[in-house]
Amino acid sequence: MLKVENVSQEFQLRDHLGRKRVKLALKGVSLALATGEILGIAGESGSGKTTLAKVILRLLEPSSGTVYFQGRDVYRLSRRELFKFRRQAQIVQQNPDAALDPLMTVEQVIAEPLLIHRLVDKADLKQRVVELLKSVNLNEEVMAGYSHQLSSGQRQRVAIARALALMPQLVIYDEPVAFLDAHLRLRLLKLLLDLRRRLNLSYIFISHDLAVLRLVSDRIAVMRNGVILETAPTEKFFAEPVHVHSRQLISNAPS
Ligand SMILES: Nc1ncnc2c1ncn2[C@@H]1O[C@H](COP(=O)(O)OP(=O)(O)O)[C@@H](O)[C@H]1O
Ligand SMILES: [Mg+2]
Repeated sequence: MLKVENVSQEFQLRDHLGRKRVKLALKGVSLALATGEILGIAGESGSGKTTLAKVILRLLEPSSGTVYFQGRDVYRLSRRELFKFRRQAQIVQQNPDAALDPLMTVEQVIAEPLLIHRLVDKADLKQRVVELLKSVNLNEEVMAGYSHQLSSGQRQRVAIARALALMPQLVIYDEPVAFLDAHLRLRLLKLLLDLRRRLNLSYIFISHDLAVLRLVSDRIAVMRNGVILETAPTEKFFAEPVHVHSRQLISNAPS
């Protein structure tokens, strides 16, 4: 359903003396994702994970290379196709507050994308919001309040409900559980796996935490310095990592 071909991304920077410098954040990255699959992306901070997510979602145009979503070049979509792509491919970020307008009630936050994409009639709107909240194990009592009144685990689930409201096919999670304590983290991961199965979603799951990726991923790709070092089915990756850097990551991970 998704194919990334030879994507490179350079950023122009200036050093402290004002001289121009080029930072290569992605260097010839390729990957593929099947429908219903969860691809985990591991890598230290600064390895290019978030940049890759942005390029896939057309939030950042790559310096070179191509992204295909359901066979179509994401960078050559018509306006109408792009509007549809904006519905079909969603991101959930580390900090849920990025997706939550503090001036909107929880109900408005989840209703907004439904209205923009005309996915429900006004009459059914409230019921649909309640359903979406239920799907992420939130009670409808939170609807009238504001997101800042919720715990961070609840806020992240509101952000997920908002993303799922659009009935996407692809969701990219960028360090979605990094802020949560271990108990909440496990619950949220189980919820995401359950949603994937029920809705036949495809996920790209970004984390620097290998224990998290081991739990959720069908396959794991390891990034370092803008390059994918290796990609392997999860069990195989942990049993016989090919790259020396992967072996280091595995041996450094708390088990
Ligand atoms: N907008 C930008 N301008 C300049 N450099 C950037 C920009 N975004 C990311 N980078 C650099 O690209 C590299 C990869 O960043 P990022 O994709 O955020 O890594 P990760 O998500 O794996 O921590 C880093 O060195 C970062 O400083
Ligand atoms: Mg990042």
